[in-house]
Amino acid sequence: MSELTAVILAAGQGTRMKSQFPKVLHRVCGVPMVEQVIRVVRQAEFKKCVVITGFKEELVRRELEGKEVSFVHQQEQLGTGHAVIQAVPEFEKDREGYVLVICGDTPLLRAETLAELSRVCQENDAAATVLTAILDNPFGYGRVLRDENGNMTSIVEQKDGTPEQLAVHEINTGTYVFKVGPLLDALKRIDNKNAQGEYYLTDVFEIMIKDGLKVIPVAAKDADETMGVNSRIQLAAADRILRLRKAEELMAQGVSIINPENTYVEQDVVVGQDTILFPGTILQGHTVVGKGCEIGPDTQLTNVTVGDETRLNRVYAHECTIGSFDEIGPFVHLRPDTVLHDHIKIGNFVEVKNSTVGDGTKLPHLIYCGDSDLGKNVNFGCGTVTVNFDGKNKHRCTVDDHAFIGCNTNLVAPVHIGERAFTAAGSTITKDVPAEALSVARARQTNIKGWVKEDTYKD
Ligand code: UD1
Ligand code: CA
Repeated sequence: MSELTAVILAAGQGTRMKSQFPKVLHRVCGVPMVEQVIRVVRQAEFKKCVVITGFKEELVRRELEGKEVSFVHQQEQLGTGHAVIQAVPEFEKDREGYVLVICGDTPLLRAETLAELSRVCQENDAAATVLTAILDNPFGYGRVLRDENGNMTSIVEQKDGTPEQLAVHEINTGTYVFKVGPLLDALKRIDNKNAQGEYYLTDVFEIMIKDGLKVIPVAAKDADETMGVNSRIQLAAADRILRLRKAEELMAQGVSIINPENTYVEQDVVVGQDTILFPGTILQGHTVVGKGCEIGPDTQLTNVTVGDETRLNRVYAHECTIGSFDEIGPFVHLRPDTVLHDHIKIGNFVEVKNSTVGDGTKLPHLIYCGDSDLGKNVNFGCGTVTVNFDGKNKHRCTVDDHAFIGCNTNLVAPVHIGERAFTAAGSTITKDVPAEALSVARARQTNIKGWVKEDTYKD
């Protein structure tokens, strides 16, 4: 099998993004653009990826750590041809192999489109295939020039074209598949005698065609796919397209999305069948939601696992695990390392952090539960607060099965409440409570008779 290598051009700063970060690191649908391109390229069977870095290369390397790509640094950006020349040592060994060249800022391309470009090149034994698109407004792009028989002759850049050439609407998307041998030969012959003083990769086509080799332009079926991102406005447009693609994918799998336009599900998120996503739902990172859940409205989950048939209404949760048949919300904050088991009820204005909560436990209103381990069927009354931090260290509260914590109880950690124990409303519990005991830790009520004097308070 011939070797398939992808070269991803990502050296530019992306001036129009007005950003201190390299353009290709800006995210679309939760994934940096360059990583999105790598994913798609891999799906199209180009397993070996070479990323050409330049501007703030250390940031690009860091972002792609562990992604099994190699990096080639382009010290000075002397043009797209110069960029590919830097990567030659990565693919020159197999002259019968193929190289896909693609820009790191075209995140909408689909794997099928790239696979087709590759198939056409290989099946026709062409020197290259060029992905083209017909645009109403081709300004700024290289134009695909053809002879009177409709055969491609060359690509001319916007800055070099004659008015007649620039009237062509078929543009070069900047995505190509090359056979290695002819690419190596042609790259040796490009120069920088053009309007921008750059080594244009696009000059190889005229060279190949003049040598009698086949160069095949392949028109993209969906011109939207070929959009490059140069500004924040285009970033938002690309994000929207990818987001809607994800929404459609989920709907096709049996997930209901009430309003896909304002539901934000990132690419790696998994959602089970018959789950309903209400407006304003944001599912991020590696979130996994089970079957038959109702999520939202206005719920944000980042790296959260949710079981089946759970309802989350106005919940903000991150880095935690939620069980099945739970009823959570409205207005609940679930913080990292929280593990909720099943049939749990967590109500309005409750925060849970770094705690485990057993089956059937209820935290219905106005509660802070941090660094605690709650058993099964525990009930926290309204206003219960765990007091875990002594200014230096965090301590844990342990509450055993069926314990009943009265309203406005402070549980001062470290403290252990035994099984079926009760705490009286308004207690500040600083010592362990044995199983089945009632703990009262508050001043006894005294009523002072006649305290209100006739002359002071009465009209
Ligand atoms: C290029 C094509 C043009 C095509 C367009 C599609 C050339 C000469 N022209 O033009 O025909 O219509 O893409 O978007 O190739 N880069 C490097 N190193 C360099 C120069 C560029 O890595 O030395 C990277 C950039 O970061 C960018 C990509 O290559 O990701 C394209 O470069 P850019 O200068 O934007 O090319 P265009 O002028 O848009
Ligand atoms: Ca340029």
